[in-house]
Amino acid sequence: MKQPLIVANWKCNPTTLAEAQKLLKTIEKGVKNIKKVEVVICPPFVYLSGFRFRASGFRLGAQDCFWEEKGAFTGEISAKMLKGLGCKYVIIGHSERKGHLKETNEMIAKKMKAAIAAGLKPIFCIGETQKEKREGQGLRTLNSQISKGLKDIKEKEARNIIIAYEPVWAIGTGKPCEVDTTLTKSLIIRQVLKKRYSLSLSRKTRILYGGSVTSQNALKYIRGAKMNGLLVGGASLKAQEFSKIVKEVSKS
Ligand code: PGA
Repeated sequence: MKQPLIVANWKCNPTTLAEAQKLLKTIEKGVKNIKKVEVVICPPFVYLSGFRFRASGFRLGAQDCFWEEKGAFTGEISAKMLKGLGCKYVIIGHSERKGHLKETNEMIAKKMKAAIAAGLKPIFCIGETQKEKREGQGLRTLNSQISKGLKDIKEKEARNIIIAYEPVWAIGTGKPCEVDTTLTKSLIIRQVLKKRYSLSLSRKTRILYGGSVTSQNALKYIRGAKMNGLLVGGASLKAQEFSKIVKEVSKS
């Protein structure tokens, strides 16, 4: 398996490019000389072109992309444009986009296809809501999100996908998923991938955990739940805390 991936999802933060560059600089200083971990910084679109990494092991990622390459689509940013700016990764299907912007599984499927075609590695977010969890629908949700989101993705293309298991109820709540449950969910995701593609692909696909990750619990997900990385929201905006997360994971 490749080295762990730590993804910083800055969401709609911070509010100026100067602050964003300062945050990046402080993080880079904090994780100096860290090896064995790949760090992906996903700032808002408007900061992407203003970012240059000084530390090694850092990569640029975007938080979303549009499915068409170009055209009359006011306000959209295409996967090809992101690739041109130096992005290697793109987050797709984050639950906040589904919730606030009514992004559907069909839209997500088109974005996945476009991201791969543009040469980006999509970080495909899946996870059940509190209601689905309460009603015992968690597994059905994961199954359906995978089959709909990867609808048009063939095995060859699927090799570039990273899956982020992010239970919606754990995002930004300070209530992370239990390590054992996370491990079970990742095994289920691998089963679904095996059925859909092959054993080899199901083994090679990187699965990340996201939802209230901190420096206290980060390593437990890597060691205990055997996750291949983490998707970090709130804690990625605090330079010291995020650097600690990266350092913790580098012990794995
Ligand atoms: P959180 O967010 O770490 O603040 O829970 C994770 C995410 O939304 O990806």
